[in-house]
Amino acid sequence: MPSKPVCIAQISDLHIKAPGTLAYGRVDTASALERCVTTLNELDPAPDFVVISGDLADTPTDEEYENLRHLLAPLKLPFAAVPGNHDSRELMRAALPLADYAFQYGPLNQRIEIDGLALLLLDSSVPGKPHGELDAQTLTWLDATLASAPERPALLFLHHPPFMTGIGHMDRQNLLNAGELVSIVERHPRVQLIATGHVHRATFTTFAGVPTTICPAPNHAVDLDLAELREPSFRVEPPAFHLHTWFPGADFGNVVTHHVPIGKFDGPHPFFGPDGKLL
Ligand SMILES: [Fe+2]
Repeated sequence: MPSKPVCIAQISDLHIKAPGTLAYGRVDTASALERCVTTLNELDPAPDFVVISGDLADTPTDEEYENLRHLLAPLKLPFAAVPGNHDSRELMRAALPLADYAFQYGPLNQRIEIDGLALLLLDSSVPGKPHGELDAQTLTWLDATLASAPERPALLFLHHPPFMTGIGHMDRQNLLNAGELVSIVERHPRVQLIATGHVHRATFTTFAGVPTTICPAPNHAVDLDLAELREPSFRVEPPAFHLHTWFPGADFGNVVTHHVPIGKFDGPHPFFGPDGKLL
């Protein structure tokens, strides 16, 4: 069990295009990632690690991953990434060759240990499809990896949410075999958080009794349409990411998720004057 807090920043759904190309003809995802990297680099204290939870590229192509590498180069923090439905396993493996993938071929699962806290990155992508699924190889690996150190807290990261958000067109392409994930999570109380992406908006629930989140994006958000009133759409809302801080304590400690807006904001300003009195 780790003895000091561990802070994991999660960014998601970068949708990087070839240089000079806008996503959906409208969103400058490259500039959005630049602003995101600036905010990450300015966090004080700095997070221990960054997880990118899928859709790093958009169509995807070699050129997009090359642009992604260029845009992530200024990031001062260590990071790892898991694919989303807009990614290619092969192109992503080639673009991020130093990652410690669990398998030489197929799903890009990873286990990362930060001061005794386990981050398990699960590849929920299904080549050529928008929905998510954890294949048999990944489910077996997850169960065995969780069983290998039952005393250590673990955070799971995957692209596709395993729950319904109420946004119909996204729910139809979420993690289709979520029931199989329930069975595994229920066997391993060390799982303290399930953190996902895909919907580009901050969402919180519980899944198999575990706090479960969707991370907002640095660019555009899926339209908050809970009654299918409109065609599938997006809005350019305030960009943000998540900061998951694990605090030590009994029963695997406690995870707190902060929603962090991206950009420059007025402050910080002191609450108290030089005389120690509240201003
Ligand atoms: Fe996605």
